[in-house]
Amino acid sequence: MLTEHTLDKFPLSLKLRDGTHITVRPLAKRDDVRLHKFLLSVPEEERLFIKQPILNREVVRQWCRQADFDRNLPLLMLHGQKIIGEATLHQRLGGWKRHIGLITLLTHPEYRGRDVSKILVGELMEIARHCGLRRLEAEVNGERKIALKTLSHLGFSPLMHLPDYVVDMKAVTHDYVLLGLNLKTDDEFLGVG
Ligand SMILES: CC(C)(COP(=O)(O)OP(=O)(O)OC[C@H]1O[C@@H](n2cnc3c(N)ncnc32)[C@H](O)[C@@H]1OP(=O)(O)O)[C@@H](O)C(=O)NCCC(=O)NCCS
Repeated sequence: MLTEHTLDKFPLSLKLRDGTHITVRPLAKRDDVRLHKFLLSVPEEERLFIKQPILNREVVRQWCRQADFDRNLPLLMLHGQKIIGEATLHQRLGGWKRHIGLITLLTHPEYRGRDVSKILVGELMEIARHCGLRRLEAEVNGERKIALKTLSHLGFSPLMHLPDYVVDMKAVTHDYVLLGLNLKTDDEFLGVG
């Protein structure tokens, strides 16, 4: 769960490794049009795993209007008014995996390799610690070598690799890779819930 002050530091003004001035902040209701545009910039093969029909503008509008940050906290990175990256912290609010957050990452193709994910994941790690989480997980299609490399640079290690385990929207099977990261917190979260 988010605490009262977890998001107080946002919006945050920072610079990418190439000096580009950017802003980081949580998703807001007013973001629907720019979020839709950002999602459309992603190549189709990277979209095949997104479960919701993101080409549908109304679906994206609902995401922005009905955001539940305790469950799904999307952090955006903006260059001016344009969204150039998004990383979401997914939390389960109970059960035996309540201490484990799941993250998803997406960077605009024109802004890759410039620290967008590194900055967003760094912020999500801090938020996750605030929330009392102890571990983070990320799920990747085993063919996405760049994503695997990026996550390993960010501190994630492989936990499980299942060949031909997942099926994309075109009914093609792919390897499933689960990666994990230990947040090393010393809170009392496991006693709660
Ligand atoms: C994976 C993805 C999110 C990476 O985002 P990014 O903003 O380009 O990553 P960053 O620039 O922040 O790089 C983070 C680290 O990964 C490394 N990295 C990034 N792209 C890389 C590449 N093409 N080859 C090797 N290493 C790479 C960076 O060098 C950096 O490590 P370092 O600090 O040790 O140098 C982006 O490629 C993407 O959106 N892919 C499609 C969606 C996806 O597969 N998401 C992951 C599953 S949820």
